[in-house]
Amino acid sequence: MVDTKTQYHKIKAEVDKAVIEVMESTAFINGKIVQDFSANLSLYLGVKHTIPCANGTDALQIAMMALGLQPGDEVITPSFTYIATTEVIALLKLTPVFVEVNPQTFCIDPLAIEKAITSKTKAIVPVHLYGHAAPMEEIMAIADKHNLYVIEDNAQAIGCEYTFSDGTKKKTGSIGHIGTTSFYPSKNLGAFGDGGAISTDDDELAATLKMIANHGQSKQYYHDVVGCNSRLDSMQAAILDIKLKHLDEYVAARRSVADFYDKAFADNKKIKTPFRGAASNHAFHQYTLILEEVNRDGLKQFLSDNNIPAMIYYPVAGHKQKMFEKFNTASQVMPVTDWLTERVISLPIHTEMDDEQLNFITSKVLEYINK
Ligand SMILES: Cc1ncc(COP(=O)(O)O)c(C=O)c1O
Repeated sequence: MVDTKTQYHKIKAEVDKAVIEVMESTAFINGKIVQDFSANLSLYLGVKHTIPCANGTDALQIAMMALGLQPGDEVITPSFTYIATTEVIALLKLTPVFVEVNPQTFCIDPLAIEKAITSKTKAIVPVHLYGHAAPMEEIMAIADKHNLYVIEDNAQAIGCEYTFSDGTKKKTGSIGHIGTTSFYPSKNLGAFGDGGAISTDDDELAATLKMIANHGQSKQYYHDVVGCNSRLDSMQAAILDIKLKHLDEYVAARRSVADFYDKAFADNKKIKTPFRGAASNHAFHQYTLILEEVNRDGLKQFLSDNNIPAMIYYPVAGHKQKMFEKFNTASQVMPVTDWLTERVISLPIHTEMDDEQLNFITSKVLEYINK
């Protein structure tokens, strides 16, 4: 689905030099480069603080811990997302409240959020799924009205910009009270291993997030709250700092791939290409089609037989996952989510695709669908 090797080779000299510098410095943990990267990422996102951590799942967990959420508090989240978003809610003994997504954008539906709010609701976790921004203006208005926190799960959308109705533009991950992201290698900003980050404009919250990510430590060997050990190592920070300079170019390359696919599939009644909402300049972490009257497994197998990977993100939605059995969510009626889980398929999309590859992929998809 990705070609991180070719991407690496284009910046090899710079990356190798930076990695050797870290090795020579032996400042493997918390080297200066970690602070530099976090400052540069804050600048990119337009936020005051960024706290790097070990991965995007930890970022979500630390965010929820920092907000002081208590067991039994309800957190509203889409059912149609990667399990990391919802798993940490249950891990912290909070209650996940699954709601529907918009069938066009794949992102959480504000009307469904409003309907799900109870006296126990404390937070909303919108996910910018596949790289399309959730409707943040509406979500922030709901949060303000009901005094709720918003944690944006920006793991799939770094590089996406959201435009408010007054024309103000903000990067996704900088709009809610906290934004979290992942640097998993295949992400838009991918490390050469694991990594994640948490961003906020709130000084107090930033101090708490930093403390929680470091064993709840306020000063050396003084631990004020129960925390965890979640660090971005210096080598990953050095690599990410270089790749951050290329992020907009990487996202532009992904958008060109999406344009190519869009054009190739435009006239096909059985394929719905990704919607691009006016408020969101899609960062295309994934290029996900909705298939109508197509044998999805058959298409996936046919593509695989032709050495084309394709993935189903996600075949089982959160409310139907066994891990959430105790919340009795499996019987929840979620027609949009269920409909999507049966119809979506994601095609390869990355920064290194050329027209030859794209022509091959699109011709094989159409060959199967039109047969
Ligand atoms: C929407 C979403 N949230 C959270 C995560 C978790 O990130 P990580 O794999 O770095 O823990 C991912 C990663 O795949 C993701 O796609």
